[in-house]
Amino acid sequence: MELAKRRGFFWQAAPLHNPIAGFYDYAPMGSLVKRRFESLWRNYFLSLDDNFYEIEASVIMPENVFKASGHLASFVDPIAKCKKCGHAERADHLLEDVLKESFEGLAASDMIALIKKHGIKCQKCKGPLEEVGVLNMMFPLDVGTGKEAKKAYLTPETAQGAYVNFALAFDVMRRKLPLGLAIIGKAFRNEISPRQGLIRMREFTQAELQIFFDPDAITSHPKFKDIEGYQLRLLPAKSRDSGKVAVLPAGQAKELGLPEFYLYHMAMVQKFYLEVLRLPEQRFRFRELVGEEKAFYNKYHWDIEANLDTLGGWKEIAGLHYRTDHDLQGHGQVSGQKVAVNIEGKEFVPHVLEISMGVDRNVYGLLDLAYSEEPERVVLKFPRAVAPFDAGIFPLVRKDGLDAKARVIFDVLKQHGFRVFYDESGSIGRRYRRIDEIGVPAGITVDYDSMQQEDVTLRDRDSMQQVRIKIEQLPAKLRAFLQGAAMEASGK
Ligand code: ATP
Ligand code: GLY
Repeated sequence: MELAKRRGFFWQAAPLHNPIAGFYDYAPMGSLVKRRFESLWRNYFLSLDDNFYEIEASVIMPENVFKASGHLASFVDPIAKCKKCGHAERADHLLEDVLKESFEGLAASDMIALIKKHGIKCQKCKGPLEEVGVLNMMFPLDVGTGKEAKKAYLTPETAQGAYVNFALAFDVMRRKLPLGLAIIGKAFRNEISPRQGLIRMREFTQAELQIFFDPDAITSHPKFKDIEGYQLRLLPAKSRDSGKVAVLPAGQAKELGLPEFYLYHMAMVQKFYLEVLRLPEQRFRFRELVGEEKAFYNKYHWDIEANLDTLGGWKEIAGLHYRTDHDLQGHGQVSGQKVAVNIEGKEFVPHVLEISMGVDRNVYGLLDLAYSEEPERVVLKFPRAVAPFDAGIFPLVRKDGLDAKARVIFDVLKQHGFRVFYDESGSIGRRYRRIDEIGVPAGITVDYDSMQQEDVTLRDRDSMQQVRIKIEQLPAKLRAFLQGAAMEASGK
């Protein structure tokens, strides 16, 4: 968090004033990483099918939307309130902090029993905690004034934007299923105890894909053969005590009661994490939720978790949700509009598979995994595709034409579409430290030899090794390096 602030990734929102917990602003480096995550997400998930599209939906929606979705009645968190000072905390988190196990989904009466049994007191004033109530997490607001004012809510998930637009989008996109509607946008939740920086915020960004499909198609996927042997990393509920991740080929994971359509998308999500974001595989797993732990709209619910050192273990960063026709049916009933589709004489309400990711949690996860302390430096070893810049361009000194040459190289690389920046201030060692701390994978330095030989050094952030490369070959070599080529392959 200290590095994130010092190097311009993010900090608490409204920094000039007394900040409110749970709100963060992205500074220049953080915005660059966040946009990179979003564009990798967009490119990857929209390419899964020709009929997947991105849309944008309003974040303020009328009350009926959330009556229909069930959020008004069911989107609640358990809270324990102190009788003495009035401080409120999420009851399951309080139990988790004190008893060091997960209590997600436990009934309020069981939570209060545990609080009593273990004599847990208010964390602020040590006063008595006697009740566990529930709080709806949505932010209400009135739109307009006076008699015309309409009750509305800030959306707690982007998903509803896709459901309320499904009927129109389905018509416009030529009535084909599966239809995918993706939204990258803001979500708002009045979290009781926002904490851990970008992990639990009150305003955050989600990247969610809603896949609408014929429920009879759940048992198959046309490309299942491609991933049948792909090794999924799974923690089924029954293995939770041992914590042992089962590594199972997708074909065999059917034994867990999961249908092909779901398993196919599990594999695609895992590939996104391991192959695009390059998470080390032992840091990644799916975790099954069962019974009351599942979100109220889910039939199958597996969280995607990353093992993050700064948070002391596994943390949910995304979810794969089979929401059935829960939402579309609800919107149909409350609005009185038709939500069933008719395809070749067969009429049905489509079901939904949702891939839901919190962008900020993923950015935090990437920072956590990238952060490494070495004897003489701190370095963010971001995967090359995620780093805020591709390369820093440096003249060894700011004279004798080295600076002018470095600027030309900077302009040329920019024209080739690289994200580069130029820095001529301070010693070269300090400049390298600076790019190490923001995770830039390559440093390109113009020195006196460059003036004679028309070459530069290319420095690899991770190994700190350098090779010499002819300037005319630089765009191609840098491209190959960013795509994963080893440093030694680039030059001597
Ligand atoms: P948690 O159990 O940690 O409260 P959740 O189960 O409520 O999370 P979901 O409702 O499944 O989370 O939301 C989908 C995704 O949105 C999560 O996987 C996470 O990445 C992100 N997300 C949810 N709540 C927050 C939040 N308060 N701040 C940041 N990201 C969030
Ligand atoms: N859209 C799923 C969620 O926010 O939980």
